[in-house]
Amino acid sequence: MIDLILVGYGKMGKMIESIIDPNDFRVTGKFDVSNPVSENLKDKPNVAIEFSTPASVIGNIEFLASRGVNVVCGTTGWYDKAESVKAIVEKYGTGFVYASNFSIGVNIFFRIVKEAAKLLDKYPGYSIDIEETHHTQKLDKPSGTAIRIADYLIESIRRKNKFSSDEPSPEEDSINIVSKRIENVVGNHKVVFESNADEITLEHNAKSRIGFAEGALLAAKFIHGKKGFYRFEDIFTSI
Ligand SMILES: NC(=O)c1ccc[n+]([C@@H]2O[C@H](COP(=O)([O-])OP(=O)(O)OC[C@H]3O[C@@H](n4cnc5c(N)ncnc54)[C@H](O)[C@@H]3O)[C@@H](O)[C@H]2O)c1
Repeated sequence: MIDLILVGYGKMGKMIESIIDPNDFRVTGKFDVSNPVSENLKDKPNVAIEFSTPASVIGNIEFLASRGVNVVCGTTGWYDKAESVKAIVEKYGTGFVYASNFSIGVNIFFRIVKEAAKLLDKYPGYSIDIEETHHTQKLDKPSGTAIRIADYLIESIRRKNKFSSDEPSPEEDSINIVSKRIENVVGNHKVVFESNADEITLEHNAKSRIGFAEGALLAAKFIHGKKGFYRFEDIFTSI
């Protein structure tokens, strides 16, 4: 049995709670903006699942690590601070696993994109674009998942070195990410390779938030009793 707290009790916190198997997890606390974990944590849980906001996530991670709590972090929009978060986790000797996207389907999609990138490296006639669409309440832009896709493409395609997201860039070595915000879209990512002759589209479409919640709970089982800083996409096939 894993004692679990939910830090951030919005759409994702509630979805996770709704699918928890009581044979595996006991929810011992739920924290939100009106009930901050740093002020109200009483009993130490085994694992915290953190889905809050880009503005609050780092403070929550630091507080939880300082209390010796292992963390599954789903909040996006903080990856420019990944090195300092890693240092926090190492300082307190806790366990931490994060993902821009906990759905197994997206993690399979990442592997497919990686393979496609190796092929596309050999065919310079193809342009490469990413499009991501999410609901209108999403705070960060582009999505963490779109940034990961861009990273994978840049890793293998030598003619691409960066991505641009605010304005389409005319620079040949840049991958453009177009972000769209449309009511009720859970999460859609497309990678489009286009030549004069044809167009190849790879697409992942999340039908609901269940996939993210299932992945986050898998990650909670993985990180229970472990130390170290992990990215879910590196470890998901082993769990
Ligand atoms: N990694 C993934 O698989 C995945 C999937 C979906 C969403 N997300 C990300 O997770 C985050 C949350 O998404 P959501 O759809 O649940 O958002 P949401 O807006 O529905 O919920 C966020 C919650 O965080 C709470 N919050 C604000 N400040 C807080 C604080 N200091 N401590 C604790 N809680 C606080 C808010 O009150 C709110 O209830 C976003 O960053 C989103 O991009 C990640």
